[in-house]
Amino acid sequence: MADVEHSGVFAVPEVKLSSSSGHRHMPVIGMGLAADPFDEIALKQAVLESIRIGYRHFDTASLYGSEKPLGEALAEAIQLGLVSSREEFFVTSKLWVTDAHPDLVVPALQKSLRTLQLEYLDLYLIHWPISAKPGELRVSIPQEELQLMDYKSVWGAMEECQRLGLTKSIGVSNFSCKKLENIFSFATIPPSVNQVEMNPLWQQKKLREFCKATNVTVTAYSPLGASGTKWGSNHVLDNETLKEIAKAHGKTIAQVCLRWSYEQGATFVVKSFNKERMKQNLQIFDWELTKEDYEKINQIPQRRFLLNEGFISPNGPFKTLDELWDGEL
Ligand code: A2P
Repeated sequence: MADVEHSGVFAVPEVKLSSSSGHRHMPVIGMGLAADPFDEIALKQAVLESIRIGYRHFDTASLYGSEKPLGEALAEAIQLGLVSSREEFFVTSKLWVTDAHPDLVVPALQKSLRTLQLEYLDLYLIHWPISAKPGELRVSIPQEELQLMDYKSVWGAMEECQRLGLTKSIGVSNFSCKKLENIFSFATIPPSVNQVEMNPLWQQKKLREFCKATNVTVTAYSPLGASGTKWGSNHVLDNETLKEIAKAHGKTIAQVCLRWSYEQGATFVVKSFNKERMKQNLQIFDWELTKEDYEKINQIPQRRFLLNEGFISPNGPFKTLDELWDGEL
């Protein structure tokens, strides 16, 4: 497929989500809205700019603080006639760990909807496979406040959100194969999506195979390694193998990473508030990686960054790894 651009607007392919209401389709490229540093005005302007060039899929979370400016930007885009209606957008938000208790799920989603000024989400995700003592939304959670999640009842409440029409589809984030299997054992609405860290330096082969076999769409977060944030680094964008491949194709390293994600059948959420880079990140459909490129990419040493060095760190939100990953991935 070539990059299709009409009057400066790029077309982005979509994938159909399993088990969504109304056969919802997700654009394969989303705009990630976990911004650091965070600036409401810049975020709103960036979202408006992104809509002008073709972004329709936006990824936020109650934790990020970006629901409000995102909602304002979407409303303004409709008012300005940049899109014809809300239906054109695909909006994802996430349930934070302090709300991951059966009686708090529906109210948490209702709160997100009020903040976003929306009547429904396209996708609501359990942000992490862990619960914490209810209370204020905050990033850093002391060990003694972390709790095992009651998956069955929390997932039941997520299903209720979809049945009530508050979201078109439901899913999870940061779930291992084992945890997904657990959800499948009782789900009446199986998860449509698992959003996880994924890029050429953390390829998630086993998880992707499992998700493919069970019809769960994988969405890659940190497809560029979240460079420039306090939880990410330049380890992906500085990788020598990717640099070589990018040079050979006359593309940027970012485009190689994003094209790779796309060729794996994943969707991804990439954050850029810079107009040229936003545009560049949409231009990945008129070329492809070669067999030789794959031979090199498959040799890249694997390194999970966010859990090892970003989130599980003295400043990260979670001080324990065991329950999060089952030692499995
Ligand atoms: P900026 O917003 O200034 O473009 P991830 O999506 O993995 O979380 O990475 C986001 C980071 O990568 C942001 O710091 C963003 O900065 C930067 N970024 C996004 N697109 C590109 C690109 N095409 N080239 C280089 N850096 C990029």
